[in-house]
Amino acid sequence: MKQAGNPCSAWHTLLLACATFIILGLAACSGTMQTAPTEGQTAVDLELLLSLPAQDISYQSQVRPVLGRRCVVCHGCYDAPCQLKLSSPEGIERGANKNKVYDGARILAAEPTRLFIDAKSTEQWRKKNFHTVLNEGTQEPRQNLENSVMYHMLRLKQRHPQPRVGMLPDNLELGLNRKQTCATLAEFDDFARQHPDWGMPYGMPNLDDAEYRTLVQWLAQGAPMDPPASADDPARQRIEQMKLFYRRHGDTYFNQQNWRRALTYYERYHVIDPDSLEIKRKITICRDKLSELSAASEKPSLAQKTPDEMRDQVKRLLEESGTESTWIMQYLFEEQSGEKDSETPW
Ligand code: HEC
Repeated sequence: MKQAGNPCSAWHTLLLACATFIILGLAACSGTMQTAPTEGQTAVDLELLLSLPAQDISYQSQVRPVLGRRCVVCHGCYDAPCQLKLSSPEGIERGANKNKVYDGARILAAEPTRLFIDAKSTEQWRKKNFHTVLNEGTQEPRQNLENSVMYHMLRLKQRHPQPRVGMLPDNLELGLNRKQTCATLAEFDDFARQHPDWGMPYGMPNLDDAEYRTLVQWLAQGAPMDPPASADDPARQRIEQMKLFYRRHGDTYFNQQNWRRALTYYERYHVIDPDSLEIKRKITICRDKLSELSAASEKPSLAQKTPDEMRDQVKRLLEESGTESTWIMQYLFEEQSGEKDSETPW
């Protein structure tokens, strides 16, 4: 009996030991999951990925205000850190560049990198050494985060928050001449290891939860930019109307060889649409003609002129000084009221 009972209790002991082992093992396992996440789990905000809204977050009404409040103070001008301009979709898509715009030590002039002017498409910017801060590979929420330098910069700050009180840590350099790294995706791990406190917004209080959520979820959605204004958008229509107005008046005066007046209209057109080669060419012609004329004329004084010449000269001086009001011109030069259509059309 004793012997018969023995194997049984041995089994019990063994089973008990196994169960304890398994339970302890499980506990150990779950303990590990909570305290030491795996590499993949720390790389992205899973909770934000899981709660991704079905609809696109709006760049214009949700993302732009956050960038404007928290990032554009540094990433807004031509000399933004890493040349990264976050004030327009084109700037975000262009990305970052390691070259400094203002570099006192430079001997040769640098090739300019003005947004909208020196290159137009993303590929052109890549050829000018701009690297992306978004994911330009397969568009999938998790990869959109994993492959985005912008996301990693935001996440770095989240994991190393800035102290709410006291002085800024000494390792945050703030001078104009601070060396910048402008890490690419491949270099980011090294950057984060060397400068854990350099997350974005740099040297500023952390984004609040709602701001962080907006930016991260928008990046996860593939950083959708709202569709460009369509041709029947009222603001766009107004712009086209103004362009037509300046061009038409410019051309009328150009054909009359009234270079100065033509120039004022063309210059206004140029402000709205700096890319029109035709207008640029005409502006150059007007300026050349004007300088030829001023070189040629000896400018006799008013007193030596006939009344008609004096009248014409007064009219021209008024026009040159920007007097466009039709009523003044009509009052002074009543019989020449043909300039009526210089009223603005809007
Ligand atoms: C106080 C100024 C300041 C503010 C505000 C700021 N940044 Fe930056 N940002 C910097 C500096 C400086 C660097 C360069 C860091 C380096 O590489 O040395 C930088 C670099 C970056 C880069 C890295 C580019 C690359 O290629 O490595 C990204 C992305 C970025 N910022 C995004 C943001 C975002 C998004 C915000 C707003 C949430 C923001 N920044 C707010 C100063 C700022």
